[in-house]
Amino acid sequence: MWFNKKDDSASVSNEYFTEKWVKEWFDSINSSEKYKRAAKHWNSPILLKFEPVPEILREKNSIGFYLDLKYGECLDISYATSQEEDLSQIILTADESTWIRLIEDKKDPTMMIMKKKLSLEKGSIVMLSTQRQAAKALLDTAPTYRDSKQQKEFISEIKEKQEKESKHTSFATIREGLDFESFPMKLFQKAKQYGIWNPSDIDLSRDREDWKQLKEDEKEILIHLSGLFLAGEEAVTIDILPLMQVVASEGRLEEEIYLTSFLWEEAKHTEFFSLFVRDVIGYQPDFEQYHKTHYKTLFYEKLPRDLNQLKLDDTPIAQLKASGTYNMIVEGTLAETGYAAYHKMLTDNDLLPGMQEGIINLKQDESRHIAYGLYLINRLLEENPGYRDEFENHLEELLNDATNIIYEIFEPYEVVPFGLEKEWFLEYALKQFQHRMDKLGY
Ligand SMILES: [Fe+2]
Ligand SMILES: [Fe+2]
Repeated sequence: MWFNKKDDSASVSNEYFTEKWVKEWFDSINSSEKYKRAAKHWNSPILLKFEPVPEILREKNSIGFYLDLKYGECLDISYATSQEEDLSQIILTADESTWIRLIEDKKDPTMMIMKKKLSLEKGSIVMLSTQRQAAKALLDTAPTYRDSKQQKEFISEIKEKQEKESKHTSFATIREGLDFESFPMKLFQKAKQYGIWNPSDIDLSRDREDWKQLKEDEKEILIHLSGLFLAGEEAVTIDILPLMQVVASEGRLEEEIYLTSFLWEEAKHTEFFSLFVRDVIGYQPDFEQYHKTHYKTLFYEKLPRDLNQLKLDDTPIAQLKASGTYNMIVEGTLAETGYAAYHKMLTDNDLLPGMQEGIINLKQDESRHIAYGLYLINRLLEENPGYRDEFENHLEELLNDATNIIYEIFEPYEVVPFGLEKEWFLEYALKQFQHRMDKLGY
């Protein structure tokens, strides 16, 4: 991320793919808990093929690496000859610099195949997609060598930054003053006007009565949705912090001021859904059973990953990805679709008025959050137009996760209560996403 990959790869390539490197990789796979977990169902030998064959492999009459993988364990890594092509159930092919970049940038190989950067010479993309985490974890364990001079430069850059941040040299308010006309300050005014609703003031007494009258399957889908929103709101309450830190350290005081209300509102959303559980559902159901594979990928992994990445890397592209995941996908696509589900279930059937009131307030808060996200993304893209494509690719990947989550939600229901339909929600989610993309000029 701080290195110019092309030049870097050329200078370190002689260290990659040596016997020492192979041995290190073998040890690293077998000591990786993450790989062991992700690959527990993987039982296919794989060949990583180099085309054209680089010098280091040519010397050994080899065309790449053959990995004998069995249920989360690597039994052997060897320099492969063409004989291993028959033994391998999966053959992935790329040139040397692509392999190095894949390893150094910790790319997702399945995504790389879809983008045609890596070719799947043998094997099925469907099988690989089901083993996507395993494939990624496998490459993640491969040892990387960075140029030590660049590493030193990077460390001194960090030190310089830390020194700069450990003291104040001036204050915006006594210099040019707050920019009240800026978009973040306008959002902050709105937040103080509309965002001051109190979840614990909402009357849930009729909701409690309504709840008793609901059919079992109607209760079930409401508990299901609550389980997704509870964890979702908690996740965004926690994961906004690294973004706030970056905005503050860049001296963007107006944005930081707005973000105080953002965090406060997410905290209230978390409180609101928790109050509904305590006061209407009346007990703490097993919510975790509703967190299926795709939901977990986004909320347990990608959201915290993309936001916490900012602690290590606050470059514009890292900020774009963080805001893309948080504001465009989690808030702008999924949460919005979830509110539409509540609306369809409750407003159309005149049920749970307290929940309805909360959702209306929440939706209004969220529209400011999304507006801030679009403002931030626009600012970053205007300053760094070169990142437009990479950002778009990132969003496409995450949108794929979001639509999979919607599929996953409806999967267990043969007939969905309240007459909800999966297609309607998928279309709604895609429409929300497209609408925001239009605003960003895509
Ligand atoms: Fe929220
Ligand atoms: Fe939000």
